[in-house]
Amino acid sequence: MKALILSGGKGTRLRPLTYSGAKQLVPVANKPILWYGIEALVAAGITDIGIVVSPETGGEVKAATGDGERFGAQITYVLQAKPAGLAHAVQVAQPFLAESPFVMYLGDNLVQDSLTPMVETFKERHLDALTLLSPVPNPQSFGVAEVDAAGRILRLEEKPQQPASNLALVGVYLFASSIHAVIATLHPSARGELEITDAIQELINQHYRVEAIHLQGWWLDTGKKDDLLEANRIILDTYSNCSIEGTVDEQSRVIGRVSIGERTQVRNCTIRGPVIIGNDCQLENCFVGPYSSIGNQVTLTDVDLDHSVILQGARVENIHHRIVDSLVGRRASLKSAPRHPNAMRFMVGDDCQIELTSP
Ligand code: TTP
Repeated sequence: MKALILSGGKGTRLRPLTYSGAKQLVPVANKPILWYGIEALVAAGITDIGIVVSPETGGEVKAATGDGERFGAQITYVLQAKPAGLAHAVQVAQPFLAESPFVMYLGDNLVQDSLTPMVETFKERHLDALTLLSPVPNPQSFGVAEVDAAGRILRLEEKPQQPASNLALVGVYLFASSIHAVIATLHPSARGELEITDAIQELINQHYRVEAIHLQGWWLDTGKKDDLLEANRIILDTYSNCSIEGTVDEQSRVIGRVSIGERTQVRNCTIRGPVIIGNDCQLENCFVGPYSSIGNQVTLTDVDLDHSVILQGARVENIHHRIVDSLVGRRASLKSAPRHPNAMRFMVGDDCQIELTSP
């Protein structure tokens, strides 16, 4: 069994962060999202892993993730010249996959369940495709499945206006090599992509063995800001790897599950966990509240924040309102202006979102 992690794509929903970097490398609890998928595959005994990358962000994904040694895996990178759909990514990876069955894992998804029962079911039942389903409140935004009582998928539809069920396709699929012949016959959908849902539907039409199992735990598609913050909250909730490597002065209070990285200096702050703070940060006169992840080389001065993710090299200084539910990109700067003139000054990148409360 091999694995194919999809780490290309456009990332439009996570702009502006995806203008300058891969969304799969955005950290959750200070670890790239992509690495959670790699770890889950290795834990299920799958170590021959292909990662599909785009020309824009492939170099960055490769530099951060390497050849797989640190995960106990062997990683092969597969370049997809344009983001032409999930089934297109499989087509491009066919030379790597050869005749092997494989797990297809969406690189921006986080799944709590172990993959081992899925792999076992797939093998025991000699399936051509196995998908993972989870009920969602907004099936219109997902690939949706109609299943019979035995778990067989009857019909699949991508982002349907009138969904046949509330069961969404979670971003983990298992396929036998029969998928390749089917993908070769597909035509691009209305949105111009080769859809994996169309490929699975074609397997069903041709009476291949396609089944689904229901996800037991949580699942997050981190492609949007609020989902990313939710992923951060859930991972920090289970986080137990606490260590204080940096220095915390006597005026500071550190409460609950908190990790503070090497050479980070904390002065006159209250840090209430679960919180993770990276290396080489400077924090002074701050309250850092639950469910916050602070990347490396971040400066926080005179700020109150919680339930937020601050990425590497950002500076947040002298903000007199509490910052909540926020995602601050790499090297971004947020600070108070002088009192006179009484005005706000911005340099805001394309597709940024800023919410200010009125005075
Ligand atoms: P999506 O999140 O569905 O697509 P996207 O990355 O283009 O994002 P957006 O909708 O915000 O524009 O993709 C799921 C995963 O699959 C994600 O990790 C990107 C990856 N992917 C590819 O590798 N190749 C592709 O052609 C597509 C469409 C996605």
